[in-house]
Amino acid sequence: MSMQVADFPAIPADPGRAETYRGLELIRHDPCGVEILNVDLTEPLSDDRFDAVMEVWHQGRVIVFRDQKLEPDDQLRFGRRVGELSVIHTEKFAGEDPAIMYISNVKEDGEFVHALPVGEMMFHIDQCYKPTPAKATILYAMEIPAEGGNTLFADAIAAYDALDEDTKARIEGLKALNVYDYDAGATHTADQVSDDAPRYAHPIARTHPVTGQKALFINRLMTREIVGLPADESRALLEKLFDHQENPAFVYEHRWRLGDLLMWDNRCTLHARRDFNPEETRIMRRLTVLGEAPE
Ligand code: OGA
Ligand code: MN
Repeated sequence: MSMQVADFPAIPADPGRAETYRGLELIRHDPCGVEILNVDLTEPLSDDRFDAVMEVWHQGRVIVFRDQKLEPDDQLRFGRRVGELSVIHTEKFAGEDPAIMYISNVKEDGEFVHALPVGEMMFHIDQCYKPTPAKATILYAMEIPAEGGNTLFADAIAAYDALDEDTKARIEGLKALNVYDYDAGATHTADQVSDDAPRYAHPIARTHPVTGQKALFINRLMTREIVGLPADESRALLEKLFDHQENPAFVYEHRWRLGDLLMWDNRCTLHARRDFNPEETRIMRRLTVLGEAPE
């Protein structure tokens, strides 16, 4: 595969399969991604309904509630139900609440005021350079460009399952170092990362704490090296694994609609963003939910 999202083939829009599960009206996509059609997140969810939503999420890895009209408090209420929210440490990016961050290309006085303002973003896993990466990221589409800016989701469990047995055996017990340089490599892998860029080594094959399934927990944007391997061996194996996990057969391409509230599971998916016209406005309201140490 390629180093550029622009070279990644378009995943055809498929209508998906309609299904009802515990009262939820769903449209399922392959290999991951489930639309939930009949939930209004301005209302608190009953325990039973929330439970059903979480089951669908754990099984489908990415869920999207369509046609939502959400104030920050509505999104926070849902996010806190999923788990403890992370506080935004980059103070200038924090929104109405310390857990809210905006991803947007809005400018004030000629300067971008929010995070990840422009362009494509290579496949990655949110916060995988931290000891306890986010388990969930919750993104609400407030303003979207007429075209472009799709988000690609790669199913990391499907990728793990499809590895040959030799490769599974080879990566068993290995850890990889993930590094993120906010300045140099926010959207592309930086050639040079600064010494103080946050970094952490996690198992390459991670077991999902809820489903028990194994996922390939590395990514092209942030994973630098396999701990304990000679540099050339490490690079060759990583490239092979990146190419494998970015196989379009494992990818769902999300075409945003206004009012989408999307939640992905960072423990078992990677995501990438396609480019969009910088003259158009794209605003997403974002929360992340704290996760457990990967094992
Ligand atoms: C993120 C992210 C992708 C997008 O918020 O972590 O990668 O489509 N966003 O904006
Ligand atoms: Mn991200």
